[in-house]
Amino acid sequence: MANCLILGASRGIGRELARQYAAAGDRVIATVRRSADAGALRDEGVAGVIEVDLAQPSAVEILWTALADEPLDVAIIAAGVSGPVTTGLAAPTAAEFDAVMHANVYPAMQVIPLLAYKLAATHGKLALLSSRMGSIGSMAEANWWLYRASKAALNAVLKCAAVELGPRGVVCMALHPGWVRTDMGGPNADLGVEESAAALRRVIAAANSSHNGRFLNFTGEQIEW
Ligand SMILES: NC(=O)c1ccc[n+]([C@@H]2O[C@H](COP(=O)([O-])OP(=O)(O)OC[C@H]3O[C@@H](n4cnc5c(N)ncnc54)[C@H](OP(=O)(O)O)[C@@H]3O)[C@@H](O)[C@H]2O)c1
Repeated sequence: MANCLILGASRGIGRELARQYAAAGDRVIATVRRSADAGALRDEGVAGVIEVDLAQPSAVEILWTALADEPLDVAIIAAGVSGPVTTGLAAPTAAEFDAVMHANVYPAMQVIPLLAYKLAATHGKLALLSSRMGSIGSMAEANWWLYRASKAALNAVLKCAAVELGPRGVVCMALHPGWVRTDMGGPNADLGVEESAAALRRVIAAANSSHNGRFLNFTGEQIEW
C-alpha cells in the first residue's frame, strides 16, 4: 500500500487518479476547492479530503496542518487551467496572463518545498501534470500561446525540484497525460480519463531514480523539454 496525495482532485484526471489509487488499496489524500466535491471522493474510498485553493498563499499552512502525520510515497499535482483558446500570437490581457500563470505555476512552487521533506523521508515520487504543449523542443504551433508558456514554466519548476530532490532520493517527473476527455480536453479528445489515469499510474509505478528530472508521456516515452 502506498500513501498518495492528489492535488486538484474534484474532477478530471486528478479525480480519476484518486479513484483508481483508492480502488487499488492505496491510502489516498485528495484536495478539492469546494466542500461539495468532497463527498463523492470519500464515497470512492479516498481516506482524506482537504479543502484548499492551491493558488492561495494560505494553501501551504492548510496542507501543513492537514498532512502533519501523513507519510507520502506519491504526490501528484493535477490542478491546472487551460486559459483562453487562441491561435497565432494573440496577446493575452494582463488579467488572463496573471490568472493562467498563477494557476498553473504558483501552486507547484509553493507546495513542493512542503512535499519535499515528506517525499525525501520515503524516497517517494513527485509528478506534475504538465502538457506536451509546454515542450519547447517540439513546439510546432503557436495556438494556446499562454497555456503553452505556463506549462513550459511548470516544466522549469519541475526540473529545479529534480536537481534539488533527486540527491535526497525523490523521483521528480513532469507527465503529459495525453489529450484526455475532461472538461479541459473536451469531448473529442483521444483518451478516456480512465485510460489516461491508468497509464499515468503505470508510469509513476515504474519510475526509478533514472527517471528523476524527466518529462514523460503517458506511454512512458520521454518528451523533449
Ligand atoms: N485534459 C487534457 O487533455 C490535458 C492534456 C494535457 C495536460 N493536461 C493537464 O492535466 C491536468 C488535469 O487536467 P484535466 O483535464 O483533468 O482538467 P479539468 O477537468 O479542467 O480539471 C482541472 C482540475 O484542477 C483543479 N484546479 C484548478 N485550479 C485549482 C486551484 N487553484 N486549486 C485547486 N484545484 C484547482 C480543478 O478544481 P475545480 O473543480 O475546483 O475547478 C479541477 O479539479 C491539468 O494540469 C492540465 O493542464 C490535461
